[in-house]
Amino acid sequence: MSTFTIDTSTSRATPTPAPMKRLTVPAIRQAKGKAPLVMLTAYSIRMAQILDPHCDMLLVGDSLGQVIYGLPSTIPVSLDMMCAHGAAVVRGSYHALVVIDMPFGSYEESPEQAFRSAARVLKETGAAAVKLEGGEAMAETVAFLSARGIPVMGHVGLTPQAVNALGGYGARGRSDAEQAKLLRDAIAIDQAGAFAIVVEGVLEPIAVEMTHKIACPTIGIGASAACDGQVLVIDDMLGMFDRVPRFVKKFADLSSQIDAAVRQYAEDVRDRAFPTLDQTYQPKHPSNGLGKAE
Ligand code: KIV
Repeated sequence: MSTFTIDTSTSRATPTPAPMKRLTVPAIRQAKGKAPLVMLTAYSIRMAQILDPHCDMLLVGDSLGQVIYGLPSTIPVSLDMMCAHGAAVVRGSYHALVVIDMPFGSYEESPEQAFRSAARVLKETGAAAVKLEGGEAMAETVAFLSARGIPVMGHVGLTPQAVNALGGYGARGRSDAEQAKLLRDAIAIDQAGAFAIVVEGVLEPIAVEMTHKIACPTIGIGASAACDGQVLVIDDMLGMFDRVPRFVKKFADLSSQIDAAVRQYAEDVRDRAFPTLDQTYQPKHPSNGLGKAE
């Protein structure tokens, strides 16, 4: 359960920025057609602290299933996982709006089930909004939650929780029928009251048309620079994985840097070159023998 305190008071505490007003759901909605919105996924407090000053929104994505837990898909992700990581990200952020993914099986059955799950997420994490996947079929649920004070971000196009039905993670919208369906999905979720919609893995012209046709901001991933904002999985863009989807741009190569650092550490340990005097505690008086801890 989150305590919502600003200071972490752990042995790894980092400087705490001055508390400031978080971006709100209405502010995000009003950003349509203005400067592009910046969103990244975050799953832990330290990463949230680093990303927060640069982002308008932090998404605690159910991609944590693969990224953090090594699961084969997002299907096994639980509400417990989303609440634990969501609370950590809220504790590590002060500026960005935090959005938490509703995991597979926690919302599809009925609007009432979705309300119970989303209410739990907001209570236990302190986040201000949830995200759920699906188009026309989820419109009633989006309207139900929105009318009851739960801001909802939609997610259309390639919806990873539907991987078993879609048959894979390929781009969507290659047939006329699929294009028309994707547009209907986005319009339905928009009209149901979503404050923003993630558009994932669709042919670029569809993303552009969606962006023009709906009132709320579109947040693209594998979609188009013309969307009202962009999102990426943080570990993908930092270069933590060798293989990433083709729509990912690697802005860093952290896995190589970590590999080099750990290689050096292993070498130093084996050579007894670490720890040195700088990293050890010595007696204040040289006369103090072993066993007389200072
Ligand atoms: O779970 C996730 O990280 C997401 C983004 C890829 C949009 O839904």
